[in-house]
Amino acid sequence: MNFKDKIRIIPDFPKPGIRFKDITTLLRDGQALRAAVQEIANRFRDEKIDLVVGPEARGFVIGTPVAYELGCGFVPLRKPGKLPAETAKMEYGLEYGKDALEIHLDAIQPGQRILLVDDLLATGGTTRAAVELVEKLGGQVVGLAFLIELTYLEGRKQLGDKEVFSLVQY
Ligand code: PRP
Repeated sequence: MNFKDKIRIIPDFPKPGIRFKDITTLLRDGQALRAAVQEIANRFRDEKIDLVVGPEARGFVIGTPVAYELGCGFVPLRKPGKLPAETAKMEYGLEYGKDALEIHLDAIQPGQRILLVDDLLATGGTTRAAVELVEKLGGQVVGLAFLIELTYLEGRKQLGDKEVFSLVQY
């Protein structure tokens, strides 16, 4: 499957000069959605993943079906103020802007094997914050999976020697 063909580029969104990678065109294509989820899941099927962790919002859309496919649970990382129980919080810089993510303190047990899933690896700020939250709770990040990697932003450099898998690169 050529996933790049399924992703729509929107120039100058949300700011001039940014070529936004719109995955809604992939998501609405049933065959492409299933193939993308299965390809990510297949890559990590033998890694004994205990939990998939994904950041709001597009990380939920890709991460939850990957967890379902792997037969494990899903843990959401949410924007501040959304999670009802006790949380840990991490701030991060975005490709455009700044934000923070929270996780429920009891969402991960020490030693659990975690696969982080998101739609996009850009600067790596979001993923870096996600890794730090997981590790703060004692989780072991065994892999990082994305639909899209913007290689020119060199997000991988923020992620040490962790296993990074992406379906499509720009
Ligand atoms: C986007 C994307 C990733 C992140 C990647 O999320 O879904 O999570 O940016 O950028 P980075 O590698 O530079 O951190 P966004 O914060 O726009 O949230 P959304 O999914 O709710 O639109």
